[in-house]
Amino acid sequence: MEHYIVKGGHALSGEVEIAGAKNAALAILAAAIMANEPVVVENVPDVSDIRAILQAAESIGAIVEKIDRHTFRINGAPVQDVPVDNEYIRKIRGSYYLIGALLGKFGHAEVALPGGCKIGTRPIDQHIKGFRALGADVYTANSHIIAEAEQLEGGHIYMDVVSVGATINVMMAAALSKGATIIENAAKEPHVVDLANFLNSMGARIRGAGTDVIRIRGVDHLHGTEYSIIPDQIEAGTYMFAAAATMGDITIRNVIPKHLECLTAKLIEIGCEVMESDDAVRVSASKRLRNTNVKTLPYPGFPTDMQPQITVILGLAGGTSIVTESIFENRFKYVDELARMGAQIKVEGNTAIVTGVDSYTGARIQSPDLRAGAALVLAALAAEGMSEIYDIHYIERGYEDFPEKLRSLGADIARVDTDEEQERAKRRFGMRAV
Ligand code: EPZ
Repeated sequence: MEHYIVKGGHALSGEVEIAGAKNAALAILAAAIMANEPVVVENVPDVSDIRAILQAAESIGAIVEKIDRHTFRINGAPVQDVPVDNEYIRKIRGSYYLIGALLGKFGHAEVALPGGCKIGTRPIDQHIKGFRALGADVYTANSHIIAEAEQLEGGHIYMDVVSVGATINVMMAAALSKGATIIENAAKEPHVVDLANFLNSMGARIRGAGTDVIRIRGVDHLHGTEYSIIPDQIEAGTYMFAAAATMGDITIRNVIPKHLECLTAKLIEIGCEVMESDDAVRVSASKRLRNTNVKTLPYPGFPTDMQPQITVILGLAGGTSIVTESIFENRFKYVDELARMGAQIKVEGNTAIVTGVDSYTGARIQSPDLRAGAALVLAALAAEGMSEIYDIHYIERGYEDFPEKLRSLGADIARVDTDEEQERAKRRFGMRAV
């Protein structure tokens, strides 16, 4: 079975290039089908969630041309108002963006209920509330969500919770509605802003993205554009934390340092050095890190998508740290795996009490979801001895070339499938079985 073999204990050093933001790309590629002209999207990350959304777009008639590994031309003109459902689309969360896109384009959408990482109940009531405020009827039938409106009209929506997905979905539908829409208590994440910029480059009229209040004046149609996706804030953060976990020195290129500020602040607080330049950050750690407290919050707060990674680092820091997860209720599943590597962490409700240990030891572990999987790889890189990490398909949803990039920083990591590959990797790393 495919898995990673990691021999830990090396300080990682060197330079790594960050790919386009997966969560921005999911929204932008869904929105691309709203235009009836070709749209060229650059800096698309080559990860499995993105392949799924492109495949879904093709399945409803979009013409998707791959120009190079990270650039796609998408023509939404032939897209048909048909149900979107296949095994891929049921696996990813971002498939629900096709509801907003198709509802805006046709006044009707039928999409299979979304999948995604099992990190909580993940309701979609705010999406539904937003579509209804635009005049749509929304209901579920046969595990599909159906949204339809005779005429989509602008509306005033106050989101009860700050939701990235609901903000994005409503913004897409409202872009092609009649009249003005106001979304209050909107999500401010960089990918929300990136989608607004993309839609505006197609002729939409959206103001205020990146603040609590987004104002949208509906337009009749969207035209073609060329657009480059922002760098992935969470991929960048994961390599920043890899430097901290392994006492390394990594320069992370193709980033927007502003998007990383809350991570930079935490790293400095626990004793790392961070240097920023225009489009890079360099993180180094030379002495044992200190404890701190972290609470996940919507942007610009500490991202829930970096919670497992910081817990891994705090598990090796001096003292006791408290990590509070306030976005998703089921995001500490990886703690049991980390405990098998020697971590001392007690989870009480949405809080983890982390007592730093001197080191982790290699173990055979499973990724419970995307970010937790990446965090466990960081733990394995920091650990003494060898680890085997299974269920890596989660990690491959969101990290392009993860083992290759880590190897370029000096890590001993191999992706293996067959017994021979496994034995070869172990020999290369000079290890016997775990
Ligand atoms: C997006 O999920 C991301 N996914 C997640 O990244 C990320 O963890 C999350 O935002 C928070 O930043 C994509 O962009 C595809 P939310 P999303 O709606 O949109 C509650 C990763 O690892 N809520 O902002 O599903 C919800 O339960 C993934 O890349 C409602 O109550 O998150 C949660 O508590 C994992 N009703 C909170 O809001 C709703 O209708 C925030 O969720 C919607 C959400």
